[in-house]
Amino acid sequence: MTSASARLRRAGMLLRDTVWKTRNVLDEMSEVRKVIKDLHLDPAITREFGLLLGQDKRALGGWSLTYGAFLSLYSTIRKTDLSDIQMIEFGSGVSTSILDRIAASCIQIRSLTTLEHDKDWLDATQQSIRCDKTQLLFRHILCVKEETRAEVFGSENPSELWSKVAAVVPADETKNTRLRNAFYDIEGLPISGNQPILMILDGPHGNGRSLAFPLFRDRTKLGDLVLIDDVDHYPFEGDLRTFFRVSELTGYKYRYSHKAWKLFRIEGVV
Ligand SMILES: C[S@@+](CC[C@H](N)C(=O)[O-])C[C@H]1O[C@@H](n2cnc3c(N)ncnc32)[C@H](O)[C@@H]1O
Repeated sequence: MTSASARLRRAGMLLRDTVWKTRNVLDEMSEVRKVIKDLHLDPAITREFGLLLGQDKRALGGWSLTYGAFLSLYSTIRKTDLSDIQMIEFGSGVSTSILDRIAASCIQIRSLTTLEHDKDWLDATQQSIRCDKTQLLFRHILCVKEETRAEVFGSENPSELWSKVAAVVPADETKNTRLRNAFYDIEGLPISGNQPILMILDGPHGNGRSLAFPLFRDRTKLGDLVLIDDVDHYPFEGDLRTFFRVSELTGYKYRYSHKAWKLFRIEGVV
C-alpha cells in the first residue's frame, strides 16, 4: 500500500471513530435529559451522582450499564421511602463497582448481592469492591429445554422445579450471546421476601433473564424495583407483565447502538 493510501485509510478510520464517539455522547446526553424529566430530578441529585461516580464514569461502555441507568437507580433510591433495600445484580462487571459505591453512600440500602458465573471475571470484579454491604457470589448458569421453560413459567413452585430440572451450562457455552433459557443457580440466595428488593437484570446472555420473574415471584412485592438491561433484545417486558402489574419509571433506547434499558416498579401481582 502506498503511503498516501495508508494515510487516507487512517484518516477514514479516525473519522468513523469520531462519528461513533460523537453519536454516543449525543445519545448519553438525551438519555440523561430523559431520566431527569421522567423522574423529576432535582439538579442537586444529578450533581451529587456525578461526584459519586467521579473517575469511574470513564470505565463505562461495552457491556456495562449506562450512565443514565445508574443515575436512575441512584436517584430512585435517594428519593424512596423504602429502607433495608436488598439490591441484587445478575451479571457482574463495571456496574458492580458503581453499585458498590451507591450501596456505601445510601442508607436506604441494606445489601448488594451480585452473581457471577465466570471465576476469573469474578476475581477481577472483587478487586473493585470497597463496601461491606456488598457480596459477590459465584453461581453457575443453568439452563432448561424450551418445554421445561414453559413448565417453570406455569409452575406452582418455580424455584423448586428450577433446582430439580435445570442443568449447568458448560463454561464455553456461557459466552454465547444467543444462549437459550438460561439463568443463575439461585439456591439459598440471601434475599428475603420481607424487605424491598431492587433487581438489576444484566445477565446471563440470551433470553433467560425472564426466568427471574417466576423464580422470584414469591419474594416480589409492591414497591420492589426491576431494572432490565437490553430490554428490547427479547420479550423481557412482556414476560415481566405476565407475572406482575408494573409501572415504567424511566428507561432509554439508544438511537445509535443496541443499548436499551427500563426501570420498573412493581404495583402488584397479575
Ligand atoms: C452484560 S455482562 C454484565 C455487565 C455488568 N453488569 C456491567 O454493567 O458491567 C454479562 C456477563 O458478561 C461477562 N462480562 C462482562 N463484561 C465483561 C468484559 N469486559 N470482559 C469479559 N467478560 C465480561 C460477565 O461474565 C458478565 O456476567
